[in-house]
Amino acid sequence: MSTISARICLLVALLAAVVLAAPAPKIQKRSFKVPRSLNPNHPRGLNGMDAMRKVYQKFGFTGGFIAAQKSQGGIEALRINAANTTSRTNTTGTVAANPGPNAALFLSPVNVGGQMLNLDFDSGSSDLWMFSTQLPQSSIGGHAAFDATKSTTFKATTGAQWSISYGDGSGAKGVVGTDVVNIGGVTVQNQTVELATAVSQSFIQDTNTDGLVGLAFSKLNTVNDGTKKTPAKTFFDNVMPNLDMPVFTADLDPDGTGVYEFGKIDQSKFTGQMAWIPVNATTGFWQFPSTKFAVGGQMMTNTAGSQAIADTGTSLLLVDQNVADSYYAKVQGAQNNAQVGGYIYPCSATLPDMSVAIGDTYMATIPGNMITFATVDAANTTCFGGIQGNGGAGLQIYGDTMFKAQFVAFNGGNQSLGFGAKPT
Ligand SMILES: *[C@@H]1O[C@H](CO)[C@@H](O)[C@H](O)[C@H]1NC(C)=O
Ligand SMILES: *[C@@H]1O[C@H](CO)[C@@H](O)[C@H](O)[C@H]1NC(C)=O
Ligand SMILES: *[C@@H]1O[C@H](CO)[C@@H](O)[C@H](O)[C@H]1NC(C)=O
Ligand SMILES: *[C@@H]1O[C@H](CO)[C@@H](O)[C@H](O)[C@H]1NC(C)=O
Ligand SMILES: *[C@@H]1O[C@H](CO)[C@@H](O)[C@H](O)[C@H]1NC(C)=O
Ligand SMILES: *[C@@H]1O[C@H](CO)[C@@H](O)[C@H](O)[C@H]1NC(C)=O
Repeated sequence: MSTISARICLLVALLAAVVLAAPAPKIQKRSFKVPRSLNPNHPRGLNGMDAMRKVYQKFGFTGGFIAAQKSQGGIEALRINAANTTSRTNTTGTVAANPGPNAALFLSPVNVGGQMLNLDFDSGSSDLWMFSTQLPQSSIGGHAAFDATKSTTFKATTGAQWSISYGDGSGAKGVVGTDVVNIGGVTVQNQTVELATAVSQSFIQDTNTDGLVGLAFSKLNTVNDGTKKTPAKTFFDNVMPNLDMPVFTADLDPDGTGVYEFGKIDQSKFTGQMAWIPVNATTGFWQFPSTKFAVGGQMMTNTAGSQAIADTGTSLLLVDQNVADSYYAKVQGAQNNAQVGGYIYPCSATLPDMSVAIGDTYMATIPGNMITFATVDAANTTCFGGIQGNGGAGLQIYGDTMFKAQFVAFNGGNQSLGFGAKPT
């Protein structure tokens, strides 16, 4: 080693020692809450068919329900080229009327560069994306849209793009930047934010949100630098080091409102001990095995046995088809109806409790009186179930139907899920 490189080595070693000796910067660890509240101006919630279409599209499922819709021209009618934002087909009779201003169903306020948006906290995806003023006005409709030119802190990431595309051809895509994002009073200075410049009709129709805060693992993030995938960190990954505990919790009420809390587990929100289940994060979802279920307390084996994910961005409890079939075999008058897109039954029927396995050690129970998702007809005589089948898609999606009955903690530190039954 030459004298010069020896000196450089010494210098580097000294610098390293200085850095190590410096006191760690004082970061105040903390927790914070975000409400998910009901918009009093919303004309109506999702209907059953919209909810089915949304979850099938999100995960690219093509079986049962989508096949039935295709044969009726349903999905074809709903599938619009992202560039064709002027067309509005309504052949199925399920397309919502043009939303008025602030037509979001649930409001979870997020401040991006000083602008307030209502974003959906979605544990089933990993992009923080939003409607932007770079969309044509006809696509923005009643959504709030982020205007990058009005944010003094926004920095465009040159050449970077993002894109979410679904199996049926729908999707959203756009450009990328960083900005100051404040959720519940906690700020991430340099959060990657994704601005939509094209959205397909299904997103325009989904007036529930102005965009998403993806809370699955960062590996699912769709950002690329123009040539290759360069997944950006989620908001949760960015705030995690500053939290008291590396968790967020979902505490949803029967009407779908509730609270997301970051950094803390509120022990008063569930009964008994929290059950912890390790997550299989290889796909990037909050995923776990679920090979058993119980209907009215009677334990059964799920012969399909697909793994399941915990998804706050889905309304329904979407189970393997054999599980849905077994459940509705116990509901008087239930039928799997192709027109409506899933299981319906007389609203007067008494529904049994449903339990689904979360890993090998916990059964999440949903009381029968919490399972109806919506009524189908104006007279409220026919009901659409909050439990539906996945048409053999090979993945079970446990959404709001479960969260209304279960308090769930998402632990990013040891990659596990905590479950506790909510008091009824
Ligand atoms: C857009 O959709 C409308 C209505 O379906 C159709 O008439 C028109 O040809 C479409 N335009 C393009 C560019 O696809
Ligand atoms: C779609 O059709 C239904 C039933 O025919 C109707 O009530 C609704 O207003 C229509 N929506 C639009 C956007 O045209
Ligand atoms: C902010 O984030 C971007 C994208 O992740 C990164 O390239 C940049 O270095 C970051 N800047 C700072 C100041 O941390
Ligand atoms: C993960 O962390 C929680 C909370 O600290 C702990 O109770 C649980 O046992 C851990 N679970 C696993 C699978 O390591
Ligand atoms: C984890 O998930 C992957 C992808 O779904 C699956 O192939 C694998 O078998 C799972 N691993 C375990 C241990 O369940
Ligand atoms: C059906 O239910 C809705 C929502 O709860 C209610 O507003 C409406 O009045 C009911 N209709 C009838 C005919 O009972």
